[in-house]
Amino acid sequence: MTDVRTGEQRQGQGQRKRVFIRTYGCQMNVYDSDRMADVLRPLGYALADAPEQADLVVLNTCHIRERASEKVYSELGRLRDTKFERRAQGRDLTIAVAGCVAQAEGQEIVRRQPAVDIVVGPQAYHRLPELLAEAERKSAFRRAGKRLPGAGVLDTDFPAESKFDHLPAPAGVHAGQAFLSIQEGCDKFCTFCVVPYTRGAEYSRPVAAVLAEARHLAAAGAIEITLLGQNVNAYHGEAADGSTWSLARLIRALAEIEGVARLRYTTSHPRDMDDALIAVHGEVPQLMPYLHLPVQSGSDRILEAMNRRHGRDLFLRLVDRLRAVRPDLALSSDFIVGFPGESDADFDDTMRLIDEVGFASAFSFKYSRRPGTPGWAMPDQVPESVEAARLAALQALLGRQARDFNASKVGATVPVLFAETGRKPGQIIGKTPWLQSVHAEGNARLIGSIAAVRLTAGHANSLAGEIVVRPWEAAA
Ligand code: 5AD
Ligand code: SF4
Repeated sequence: MTDVRTGEQRQGQGQRKRVFIRTYGCQMNVYDSDRMADVLRPLGYALADAPEQADLVVLNTCHIRERASEKVYSELGRLRDTKFERRAQGRDLTIAVAGCVAQAEGQEIVRRQPAVDIVVGPQAYHRLPELLAEAERKSAFRRAGKRLPGAGVLDTDFPAESKFDHLPAPAGVHAGQAFLSIQEGCDKFCTFCVVPYTRGAEYSRPVAAVLAEARHLAAAGAIEITLLGQNVNAYHGEAADGSTWSLARLIRALAEIEGVARLRYTTSHPRDMDDALIAVHGEVPQLMPYLHLPVQSGSDRILEAMNRRHGRDLFLRLVDRLRAVRPDLALSSDFIVGFPGESDADFDDTMRLIDEVGFASAFSFKYSRRPGTPGWAMPDQVPESVEAARLAALQALLGRQARDFNASKVGATVPVLFAETGRKPGQIIGKTPWLQSVHAEGNARLIGSIAAVRLTAGHANSLAGEIVVRPWEAAA
């Protein structure tokens, strides 16, 4: 969960208003929260640090995790109390629910929590100004003692036109890093996943729009750009000449933009790792040697039941081919344990796959039934206690691999992009090309730039290092 505090604060015309945006879930949601802040800024909304200081609170929700919507409803209960306290003082608090829970539950949210003013799906953020105006109109009616049929304003349609055509250019470059959303939605329909239902069909932004946004970000100081999409390597954007560009072609073009020293992309599907994209990993130095490639399971039987459309062999062959062109590639993945029907033998297949590949980092989850997905109704749901034991074993193995990977870099001098100050005075934290965090002593002026760092110690989740001072810098 992340609180978004981006962009310069701007005095609105007339009364100054404040918005607090709470972001749950993935990088796509962080990106969307930034865009919502961009849409609201011209309306005079500055960013607040806490709900108590805000006139408008947006919960940008995520539906993938277990009990995600319950967490949202309890947060909404707290916000309702604040709203009622405000009303007693003759003021108001506008409450909006955005993101995937908004998309999945729609009107149900307003039914369960009538204090909610706006429910807006991920495809409709550009309509926030209209929705706010409508909510304000309803609130004025209420203040005048009139009754209106239905509470809340709802927009969870998948519109024919793209929201990207309407959203303003992004403001968000933080410490030299920026995210750029190039693709949304998914047509894969893995049987455990809500994304095809909440984010809709796969859509790729046109090439010209992506390149323009990347140039804009580079001009605003971005030296690392991470391309985002639920199924980012399925990218197939239309170019001005009518041709279709793949992600590989897009990456080659983005690498030409002056100032862009680092490129990354996430999240990918194994089925969409084509030859051209594998080649790019070996040929474009700006593309960092890191790939997040979810496999979910190492058992062919479970992969089939998950409708992943690939087996363990395809994944292992991809890893070999990627490492052939980029031997130092750091691999990351997502794993689900306890998918319905997963036996001890299936789980062993996953453990063997992990052993065979060797991951630098990974995310792992107990399977959780999501209403509306085929997995919900599958027989042989795995008991919680079995899921917990499997997850512990899997995480222990992945933890050892991460530690080994970190340790393997100790002694090397590598470029680190510094992003923030550390907890200790004089400490700054950055990222290696392989996306490990590095702690070093250094001047905060280095934040937002790349410096050479000699790595001195490897830990479970990070590395320690010393900034290499070159003789001419020491003299300066
Ligand atoms: N249960 C557990 N994990 C899930 N994920 C997605 N849906 C579920 C679910 N129902 C995990 C997958 C995916 C990551 C983003 O979240 O591993 O790759
Ligand atoms: Fe969900 Fe990813 Fe499968 Fe699409 S490819 S359905 S986003 S897990």
